[in-house]
Amino acid sequence: MRPIVQSKKLQHVRYDVRGPILVEAQRLEAEGHKILKLNIGNTAPFGFEAPEAIVADMIHNLPDAQGYSDSRGIYSARTAVAQYYQARGLTDTVVDDVYIGNGVSELISMVLQAFVDDGNEILIPAPDYPLWTGAVSLSGGTPVHYRCDEENGWNPDLDDIESKITPNTHALVVINPNNPTGAVYSEDIVKGLVDIARRHNLVLMADEIYEKILYADEAVTPIHHHVATYAADDVLCLTFSGLSKAYRVCGYRAGWVMVSGPKHMAEDFLEGLTLLANMRMCANVPAQHAIQTALGGYQSINELIVPGGRFFEQIKLANRLLNEIPGVSCVEPQGALYCFPRLDPEAYAIEDDQQFVIDLLRAKKILVTHGTGFNWFEPDHFRLVTLPDTEVLTEAIGRIAEYLETIRR
Ligand SMILES: Cc1ncc(COP(=O)(O)O)c(C=O)c1O
Repeated sequence: MRPIVQSKKLQHVRYDVRGPILVEAQRLEAEGHKILKLNIGNTAPFGFEAPEAIVADMIHNLPDAQGYSDSRGIYSARTAVAQYYQARGLTDTVVDDVYIGNGVSELISMVLQAFVDDGNEILIPAPDYPLWTGAVSLSGGTPVHYRCDEENGWNPDLDDIESKITPNTHALVVINPNNPTGAVYSEDIVKGLVDIARRHNLVLMADEIYEKILYADEAVTPIHHHVATYAADDVLCLTFSGLSKAYRVCGYRAGWVMVSGPKHMAEDFLEGLTLLANMRMCANVPAQHAIQTALGGYQSINELIVPGGRFFEQIKLANRLLNEIPGVSCVEPQGALYCFPRLDPEAYAIEDDQQFVIDLLRAKKILVTHGTGFNWFEPDHFRLVTLPDTEVLTEAIGRIAEYLETIRR
């Protein structure tokens, strides 16, 4: 028999958040080691529970959720999403603008498959959430990474974006709040991004899954600005969000994409998107029932993101402890669930950051993700998930500090 090989379409597709390093972690676990996994933004293993109303709603609807639904999603969920954006100034949003998916992940792939032709260039932030880059490659497109500026709070460098636009550029991806940097973009930056899309006739793809995870303190009050509200009626915008993070139910797989702007100019693309939605029948129906309850009711996330709340205390502590390590600096995250510290090359001569992460894993049994796994340009960053409680985080960052001491110049 011939060797069975993966398709050539996967040649440039990477997803290092769950890649070779996780395989090494699993090998160590099989040997009996206990690994502290700080590599995935998965809330449940760290003791976060879904709001009770969401679980109750799913249980209540389970007997009626056995059949396929409308491929774009059940009516109540799509209405709830449409109303959510109406209340945020997008008053023209209607039910038909909303597609429900098995998490944002599925919708990113579906949208790109429906939109991208071979060789189309899609602008993606660096660092990025790497699914975007992988999904663009898989759809035949060319990911083009624009720089987010660490010295400017990791805000996108608008000049860099402009300089990378060619006649072949078709869309601009914005991840705000950002994974992995935790940046929450200012209104001026969001307006600047929309202005670039408008002037160069680009479709905006806004991944806003962390929109409700913002950390206000005495020094800053981050505000999330929906890209779509600035795109108005002349720039097509696809806004992605879902229940995974703010509602702590990433295992339920419930997300949506909302279409706004000049929809009459996008009828053909939307027909393609609906075709792909039809081909996968529908998103899992029980979790769709959670969407209306989640968006409408009491927002328990607000308790977690203020002083005294776990998300807040953990991310602030992690940021402080990382900054205390000689040669390590971390821009304070204003949102999301991650720290993305820099390892000063003067102090740490790291040429291969994946190898650095593997060495750290073997030495200290801590799993983090290397910065180039987020398509960052240099091997000088890593990402740490801030979901463990403060005691575990202190232990974890202590072990990282110990390891760094052994390799510091
Ligand atoms: C920026 C970003 N977008 C999308 C996703 C995927 O979310 P979902 O669970 O809805 O597929 C994640 C998950 O970590 C993410 O960080």
